[in-house]
Amino acid sequence: MTWVRMVGSSEQTVSVRLGERSYEVTLQQGLLATVGTRIRQLTNARKVGIITDRHVARHYLKGVLRSLRAADFHATAIVLPPGEPSKSMPTVERILDHLAKQRFERGSFLVALGGGVVGDLTGFAAAIYQRGIPFVQVPTTLVAQVDSSVGGKTGIDHRLGKNLIGAFHQPRAVLVDPQTLETLPRREWIAGLAEVIKYGVIADQAFFEFLERSMADLAALRSADIIRVIGRSCEIKAQIVSEDERESDRRRILNYGHTIGHALEVLGGYRSLIHGEAVGIGMVQEANLSAHVGLCSSNVPERIRSIVLSAGLSDVMPRRTFRSLWSAMQHDKKAIGGQVIGVWPVQIGSVVIQKIGRETCAEWFRGLHVRRSDQGATHQSKVVRKTRIARR
Ligand code: NAD
Ligand code: GLY
Repeated sequence: MTWVRMVGSSEQTVSVRLGERSYEVTLQQGLLATVGTRIRQLTNARKVGIITDRHVARHYLKGVLRSLRAADFHATAIVLPPGEPSKSMPTVERILDHLAKQRFERGSFLVALGGGVVGDLTGFAAAIYQRGIPFVQVPTTLVAQVDSSVGGKTGIDHRLGKNLIGAFHQPRAVLVDPQTLETLPRREWIAGLAEVIKYGVIADQAFFEFLERSMADLAALRSADIIRVIGRSCEIKAQIVSEDERESDRRRILNYGHTIGHALEVLGGYRSLIHGEAVGIGMVQEANLSAHVGLCSSNVPERIRSIVLSAGLSDVMPRRTFRSLWSAMQHDKKAIGGQVIGVWPVQIGSVVIQKIGRETCAEWFRGLHVRRSDQGATHQSKVVRKTRIARR
C-alpha cells in the first residue's frame, strides 16, 4: 500500500493532478498558523474573504485572521449559522452581497474555514461570483478533511434533493490541520469515519483490513494513525478525481453509500441524520442490495456492517415507505430515466457502477421489512421468554 509522500519532517502532500487546475492537499499538525503565508505563495491579491460558521469561528477565526493579516491580506469574515440548512440559496445570496459590497474582484480569494457545509457553499459562491474567483479549502471536520475539500464539487441543497444546485470548481489548495479535529464533537467525528470506510470498500482492500483492525481505537480517538488515515483517504480521492474530474464514469464510485444515504437525509429534512450517519446506513444497505441481486457474496455486507457498527455508526434503515425512498432516490443526481445508477460492492476494495430498476429495489425493500419483522418477532419471543423465566 502506498501512503502519502512525506515532505520535511511532518508535512505531507497529496497531488490532485488536473492539468492547469492541479493543486496540492497539504497536511500538517498546527498548519492553521501558517495559512496566511501559504495563501500568499499562491497570489498577490489583497482581498481575502473567510467563510466560516459560528462553531468553527469560536475556535479558529481569530488565529486565521491574524495569519492572513500578517501575510499582508485585507481579510474579512462571514460567519454563518452552523449546519446543513445553511447550504441554501439565501446563504449564497448573503455571501455574494458581502463580496459585492466589499468590492471583491476576479483575483480576490475566498477561504472556506470549516466542514463540508462551509466548503461546499464557499466553493459554490466562488464558482459563480464574477463567473469564478479562486478559493482555498481549510477543512476542519473529518468529513471535510478526507472527502469534501478535495475534488471541486461545490453546491447547495434543494428541498427535493441534496446538492441539486452546484458547480465543479476546484480549489487552489487544500490546507489540512488535523489538530482542528481535537475540538470536533464526537458525533461529527464518528460520522466522518463513514467516508473513511467508504474508501476501503471502493478502492483499497488493504486499507479496509487496516481499518478493521484499528476501528475501535479510531472511534475512541485513541489512535495515533489518524494522519495516516486522512492521508490515505485524500490519496484515493485525489487519484479518482484526477482520472475523472466531472464524474462521467469512474468518479461515480465515490457515491457508494450515498444513493440511499442522500435519500435518507432528504426524507429526514436534513435534521434527523447528519451526512456521515446517513452514508453509514447507506453503505450497509447498498451492500445488502448488492448481495440481493447476486453481485457479491453475503460475506461482503457482513464485513461492511461489522466495521460500520464498530465505528459507532448505525446500520438501521429508518422506517420509510418504499415509495418515499424511491422517490427521494429519483431526485438524486444519480438517477437517469426512472432508474438509479448505483455503486455496488462486488468484493471489499472493488465496486461496479450499475443501473437498478424500481422492481428490483422494491423486492429487496420488501425483504428488508420481512427480515425486520422476523428480528422483531425473535426479539419479542426473547422478551416473552425472559418474562416467563422471571415469573417462575
Ligand atoms: P458540517 O460542515 O455541518 O460540520 C459539522 C459540525 O461540526 C458543524 O456544526 C460545524 O460547525 C462543526 N465543526 C466543524 N469543524 C469543527 C471543529 N474543528 N471543531 C468544532 N466544531 C466543528 O458537516 P460535515 O460533515 O463536515 O460536512 C457535511 C457536508 O459535506 C454535507 O453537506 C455533504 O453533502 C457535504 N459533502 C460534500 C462532498 C463534496 O465532495 N463536495 C463530499 C462529502 C460531503
Ligand atoms: N463525494 C463525492 C465526490 O466527490 O465525487
